Amino acid sequence: MRFSPENKSMNFKNIKIEEYILSNSMDIPDYLIELERETNLTTLMPQMLSGRLQGRLLAFLSKMINPENILEIGTFTGYSALCLAEGLAENGKLITIEYDPELKNIIEKYIEKSGMQNRIEVIFNDAIHIIDKLGKAFDLVFLDAYKEDYINYYQKIIPKLNPGGIIIADNVLWSGKVITDQSDKTTKAIIEFNKFVNADPNTENVILPIRDGLSLIRKK
Ligand SMILES: C[S@@+](CC[C@H](N)C(=O)[O-])C[C@H]1O[C@@H](n2cnc3c(N)ncnc32)[C@H](O)[C@@H]1O
Repeated sequence: MRFSPENKSMNFKNIKIEEYILSNSMDIPDYLIELERETNLTTLMPQMLSGRLQGRLLAFLSKMINPENILEIGTFTGYSALCLAEGLAENGKLITIEYDPELKNIIEKYIEKSGMQNRIEVIFNDAIHIIDKLGKAFDLVFLDAYKEDYINYYQKIIPKLNPGGIIIADNVLWSGKVITDQSDKTTKAIIEFNKFVNADPNTENVILPIRDGLSLIRKK
C-alpha cells in the first residue's frame, strides 16, 4: 500500500500500525484513491489532503451524524468533502468553500466520478465573506482553511450551527508546535483558537491526536 506524504515523518512502527488500521477499516472508494494520486502528482502541497485514515474517520463521523447540511471551509482538491458527503442524509447537501479557482478542474472531476454532483456545491471565494451569507443551518462543519482566521471562522459558524451540531477543526496540534515551538504566528493562532473553543460556554469539545490533531466541537 502506498502512503500519503504526511506519513513521511512517521517512524516504521507507526507506518505499520497505520497500514494495519487501514487494512482492518472500511474500504476507501476507488475515486478517492485516484484523487489522492492525482493530488500528489499535480499540486504543490499535496500534504494538505486529509489522507486515508483521517478521510475514513470523517466519513464515519458523518455517517454517525447523518447530516442534512454540511459546510466545509477549505476544499483543496475535494478529498475531505467527498469523505464527508458519504454520510449525508437522503436529501442532504454539502457546501464547500475554496479560495483558489485553479483547483476547480480537479475538484469537479472527482465530484463527478463520485456521482455526488447533485449533492455537493463548491463556492470559489474567501470563506470569511461567504459564511454569513449562507441561508441555511448546518449539522456538521469541517474547518480546514487559513489557520490564522480559525477564531473568525468559528465565530461566524456558531450562529449557523444547529443545536447538537458538530464542528470538526483540523490541524489543531500543528505538528506538535502547540507545545514545542510557540513562536510563529500560525502556531500562536492555533493555540488561541484551542483556548477560545475550550472557554466557550456554548460548546464542548475534545481534541483527538489523529494526524495533525482534530478538535471535535459540539454546540450545546
Ligand atoms: C488544508 S487545505 C484543505 C484540505 C481539504 N480539506 C482536505 O482535507 O482534503 C486548505 C485549503 O483552504 C483554502 N483556503 C485558505 N484560506 C481560505 C479562505 N479564506 N477561504 C476559502 N478557502 C481558503 C486553501 O486554498 C486550501 O486549498
